[in-house]
Amino acid sequence: MATNPDLHGRPVGTDSRSAQILGRHGHTEILPDSSRCAQYRPYMVSGAYSAQRFRRARRARRGATVRGWCPRRAGACTSSHVERRRTVDIPRITLNNGVSIPQLGLGVFQTRQGEETVNAVREALQAGYRHIDTAMIYRNEESVGEGIRQSGIDRRDVFVTTKLWNDDIRAGATKEACYRSMDRLGVDYLDLYLIHWPAQGWERCWEQMAQLYAEHRVRAIGVCNFQRHHLESLLAMSGMRPAVNQIESSPQFANQRLIDFSNAKRIDVEAYSPLGGTGGNLLADPRLAVIGRQYGKSPAQIVIRWHVQRGVIVLPKSTHAERIRQNFDVFDFKLSDEHMRQIAAMETGKRNSADPDHFDF
Ligand code: A2P
Repeated sequence: MATNPDLHGRPVGTDSRSAQILGRHGHTEILPDSSRCAQYRPYMVSGAYSAQRFRRARRARRGATVRGWCPRRAGACTSSHVERRRTVDIPRITLNNGVSIPQLGLGVFQTRQGEETVNAVREALQAGYRHIDTAMIYRNEESVGEGIRQSGIDRRDVFVTTKLWNDDIRAGATKEACYRSMDRLGVDYLDLYLIHWPAQGWERCWEQMAQLYAEHRVRAIGVCNFQRHHLESLLAMSGMRPAVNQIESSPQFANQRLIDFSNAKRIDVEAYSPLGGTGGNLLADPRLAVIGRQYGKSPAQIVIRWHVQRGVIVLPKSTHAERIRQNFDVFDFKLSDEHMRQIAAMETGKRNSADPDHFDF
């Protein structure tokens, strides 16, 4: 557990720890992959941080090649990754409780437990992602934990979200469910714990989630699939405001009014099925290909960038390493206002997922 408390005296991950290492914002991915350079690990946690190393880190943040940036000096580490590592600024959003979250994360809905999830998570973290979004009902929490461990990235540098499933909501078994999820993930705190659906009994669970937060077992709590009326009820009954509302959102179903309402209540929105979901036809839309050609980007990258520019936290899912990497490569261009409008005009009003007001699971 990192030693610096966050604003609320909770254990912290990437934010203040990176700030400790880098001397400021703490959201810049610059560290060589320690999984391939075991010598690097002691350096990462070392308190010693020389002016020379700081200058190298600063150069790296600006995009310079970090040649020889290795604890035992150039040559001592034979891994070419040290030379090749490129820096990527992951935009971060500060949630309403002061916790900072990477705006882009890997979603693992329908990613199978076992190798498929382990590989996806490991690849993502090695590509620069620092945010993984899972759920109890995805039945891959063990593999998410294994992927994090295999990546060699410190768990404290990864923003880990999981969710309370409907059976546990109906049973009012929030704490037990949360501890079981943490056990499966192999972590001793969660960065974000979410009510998965507004199933019957969610009100009682919200208070139990607030207790988990007060006990510092989770750094932030929130909800998924809450409509405006659910949020209104929650805000009326509890002093504890959700940090996020995770909802379906894509160019075909932007859900913009709910996003605006959530934001007006200082609740950040996370977009699931951001690419239109598995089996969707969004990415085949020729309008995205036309826009993409103007930026040298794929339809998926255009859509992810659209989400980033509208300020939502975006959770694309892929099981393919090259797509996982591609989906992260969206921070070196900016869509014009006109293209933002054209993408928003792809709205069909049709959901890919279940309707939160009428679900039967
Ligand atoms: P796959 O997992 O086989 O890569 P969403 O994030 O909206 O739920 O969409 C996920 C779907 O989009 C999955 O079917 C995923 O397939 C596919 N997908 C993810 N990234 C890309 C990409 N860069 N190009 C094409 N399809 C993608």
